[in-house]
Amino acid sequence: MQVVIQPDAEAIASLVADEIERLLRQRPETVLGLATGSSPLAIYDELVRRYEAGRISFARSRAFMLDEYVGLPADHPERYRNVIEREIAGRVDFAPGAVQGPDGNAEDIPAACEQYEAAIAEAGGVDLQILGIGSDGHIAFNEPGSSLASRTRIKTLTSQTRRDNARFFDGDVDAVPHHCLTQGLATIMSARHLVLVATGAGKAEAVHHLVEGPVSAMWPATVMQHHPRATVLLDAAAASRLQLGDYYREVFANKPAWQGL
Ligand code: F6R
Repeated sequence: MQVVIQPDAEAIASLVADEIERLLRQRPETVLGLATGSSPLAIYDELVRRYEAGRISFARSRAFMLDEYVGLPADHPERYRNVIEREIAGRVDFAPGAVQGPDGNAEDIPAACEQYEAAIAEAGGVDLQILGIGSDGHIAFNEPGSSLASRTRIKTLTSQTRRDNARFFDGDVDAVPHHCLTQGLATIMSARHLVLVATGAGKAEAVHHLVEGPVSAMWPATVMQHHPRATVLLDAAAASRLQLGDYYREVFANKPAWQGL
């Protein structure tokens, strides 16, 4: 696992956008994995800037979302499909239908989850998966106790996650759905490169477990320690509980340029 500590979200976004730009230039059919929430927003803004400057195009690429709330009306502004449209998909040149997410309003939820797994496989898998981390250590919505071998399925959100996400629902925790559909930990682990972004002191404990703790379903993100190519980008506050912070800084400062992110 590579740990990269940067001054702020903008510096992190620039490094991640460099890697996505490199991938899209190398192979315009690159398949991206998109997260929602606050963590990836600076990355999406930077990708939009590069698209508007004519540096990158998403016209031949595809993208898969990590998760979706169950039961939010199709036009609800916080339905993740709508959030992704607002934050990135609708601001660049993805082809119609090229960005997909699990269907949180499906009548047959298990069938919808299976179809979603099949769609990712049919696209050839995800090349680069953007991830945030919950303060309870979840990635996507794989809450503590999730099977490390899980695939896309329905999950119940913890009260901690519902409290954390109430800020998107005018502070009303009761408006945050109890259920979601989420890629499983094994689904996420199938992506070729995992890129997790975390900023702020509120993420420091989860980041400490992710990077330096034992692998455990109690801190689901720790499964990433088993991934051959996982990059964790942090600001100083999110990195503040890491034991080897100085070493990670030294490694990145001396990294051979040809290695990329
Ligand atoms: C959202 C997702 C979640 C968030 C996590 C952090 O698609 O998968 O795992 O990444 O809850 O949320 P923020 O970035 O809002 O702190």
